[in-house]
Amino acid sequence: MSESVVIAVDGPAASGKSTLARRLAAAFGLRFLDTGLLYRAVARRLLEGNRDPSDERAALEAVAALAPEDLDPDALAGERIGEAASRVAAMAAVREALLPWQRRFGRTPPGAVLAGRDIGTVVFPDATVKLFVTASLEERARRRFLELRRRGREPIFERVLDELRERDRRDCERSVAPLRVAEDAVVLDTTALDADAAFAAARQLIERELAARSADSSRSESNP
Ligand code: C5P
Repeated sequence: MSESVVIAVDGPAASGKSTLARRLAAAFGLRFLDTGLLYRAVARRLLEGNRDPSDERAALEAVAALAPEDLDPDALAGERIGEAASRVAAMAAVREALLPWQRRFGRTPPGAVLAGRDIGTVVFPDATVKLFVTASLEERARRRFLELRRRGREPIFERVLDELRERDRRDCERSVAPLRVAEDAVVLDTTALDADAAFAAARQLIERELAARSADSSRSESNP
């Protein structure tokens, strides 16, 4: 595939993967893409046009009209868009239409860290390093609850927990590109780690993988 370094960071909703992936990109001098924003941006267009998030034709039109300025995380936050995004994301044709966009982004030198659900399994099966970031449902709900409070909302914990459980179910049970751990991914369970500890652990894992990769390539150069 490409010579660019591609780091896949997959995991369930509210696992902290996007924050972690952004920090990793900065640390390794790579570009960063939160692929959830693509599905959210499509969902937002559909909701604003009063369309059903499962309307495939309308969703494909929204994909074709996507522009980089549509990927503003602040405009796409919130469970209403997240829930609609998981419906959009269950349609095979929509996923297919978003693939070239993601692959082009990752292959552009020097490479990228991509956060999502299927980066290591579908988008970049030969990614340089694959991380699967997870945490218990309760811990993820707690983090999402605190984040909503920080944004000035008044969330109800039980409701946040139920919404996450439902989104996990939809992401894991869909027939196309369901959320699962790639065979060669390293699982990072952050239930008992804060953001700094998760970053330190991920960074160490990636440094080890990159060192092994460069040792391999210099061995094959000296033994052609
Ligand atoms: O990660 P985030 O919560 O922003 O993603 C919103 C939804 O987009 C997810 O629930 C999932 O259904 C979908 N998604 C996906 N594949 C990705 C990224 C997100 O199916 N690579």
